[in-house]
Amino acid sequence: MVRRDLLTKTQGLSSKTQYPIPKTQNLRPKTLLVTGGAGFIGSNFIHHIITEHSDWEIVNLDKLTYAGNLENLQDTENNPRYRFIKGDIADRKLVGALFSGEYFAANSLTPNTQDLRPNIVVNFAAESHVDRSILDASPFIETNIKGTQVLLEAARTHWLGSKTQDPTSNTQDLRPNIFLQVSTDEVYGSTEKGKFTEESPLSPNSPYSASKAAADFLCHAYWKTYQLPVIITRCSNNLGPFQFPEKLIPLAITNALENKPIPIYGDGLNVRDWIYVLDHCRALDFTLQKGKPGEIYNIAANEERTNLELIHRLLDVMDKPQSLIKFVADRPGHDRRYALDASKISRELGWQPNYSFEEALTATVDWYLNNESWWRKIKRGDYAKYYARMYSHR
Ligand code: NAD
Ligand code: TYD
Repeated sequence: MVRRDLLTKTQGLSSKTQYPIPKTQNLRPKTLLVTGGAGFIGSNFIHHIITEHSDWEIVNLDKLTYAGNLENLQDTENNPRYRFIKGDIADRKLVGALFSGEYFAANSLTPNTQDLRPNIVVNFAAESHVDRSILDASPFIETNIKGTQVLLEAARTHWLGSKTQDPTSNTQDLRPNIFLQVSTDEVYGSTEKGKFTEESPLSPNSPYSASKAAADFLCHAYWKTYQLPVIITRCSNNLGPFQFPEKLIPLAITNALENKPIPIYGDGLNVRDWIYVLDHCRALDFTLQKGKPGEIYNIAANEERTNLELIHRLLDVMDKPQSLIKFVADRPGHDRRYALDASKISRELGWQPNYSFEEALTATVDWYLNNESWWRKIKRGDYAKYYARMYSHR
């Protein structure tokens, strides 16, 4: 019997898991191709899956861009159910060899004749930072759009062959394949009032969100045209362990720990809807097990805050002075408010967040306090150049 409480503590993430996640029965073990698994959400997801599903195999394909960090997976690297491959999702040849199994045979990665051809894809791999997309959109097009299309095409070729799959055969009891596209609330654009549902039209405003929306459209097209069993999830802003300190919360926590100013764009009244990363990972797990191909699921915890409210609270929690706040020039095209209606995933799949915003914030601050060497190493590297370029003349 696996002691979940012990496993979770070993990971150093959190002891508050409060499952049940539905466990599917009588399925052949799943082999997941997780892309972008060395990043923030992907690495949390891999920890989650290793802990929760003792018979699932994971292949992590990650290019290790500035945002990919194998230190995020140190406690997983020797797990026999986990393999890491450094590579690009836009590399057609490599991705094809992963789906055909040739890669594993050629690299002796299949002891015990284990078949590592993926029957599930969870596509996290992306360029993910809006500010970087404003500096240079090109890598966003390459990875977020072209890379997604390469994965979709490989899945189509190897899962469906010349036939299209009968979508009705993809039921909960017999679930051969799922392509889970990890998307974002940012594809809906900004709204002053109300909340976006899965039916809301897409209206992305940044090069980042435009590239994610394009990928969503491609996923939809592969479902409609070929019946490739694609599911799209769209989650709100995440916070938690292992987030690269270019994003607001880890940037603010680490700057505050260094007693440096915290840059707030514009008037600080832009609103984001926050969710703890482990709740997002659980929602993805629910979706893999109970979600329906062709569907879209919004994921959110209904925790809207203005950036200013968020940073005020963060500084209180950290016992740091509010005078660290520094208003700086706004982000071009800055979306005013994101807000998701996530009632569908709760109604249809039974998912609910476990963490309140306060709990998530405290757990996140604790993690950065306890993992100083992780973020200090990042901040010493190329990050310093990025920071100077982004903030020194603002
Ligand atoms: P991240 O930037 O922390 O990690 C991205 C990972 O993808 C890195 O490990 C990077 O090395 C890898 N990668 C980049 N290009 C690649 C390529 N061409 N081939 C293979 N690997 C590549 O991002 P994140 O915050 O963990 O976000 C993961 C996914 O979740 C993204 O698709 C993002 O759009 C989505 N998302 C993020 C949030 C959020 O708040 N962070 C919210 C909703 C959705
Ligand atoms: P961010 O973490 O970049 O996520 P996103 O833009 O994808 O929502 O930013 C969250 C909010 O914080 C957003 O409104 C922009 C704002 N922000 C700042 O005010 N200062 C900063 O230094 C950063 C990085 C973000």
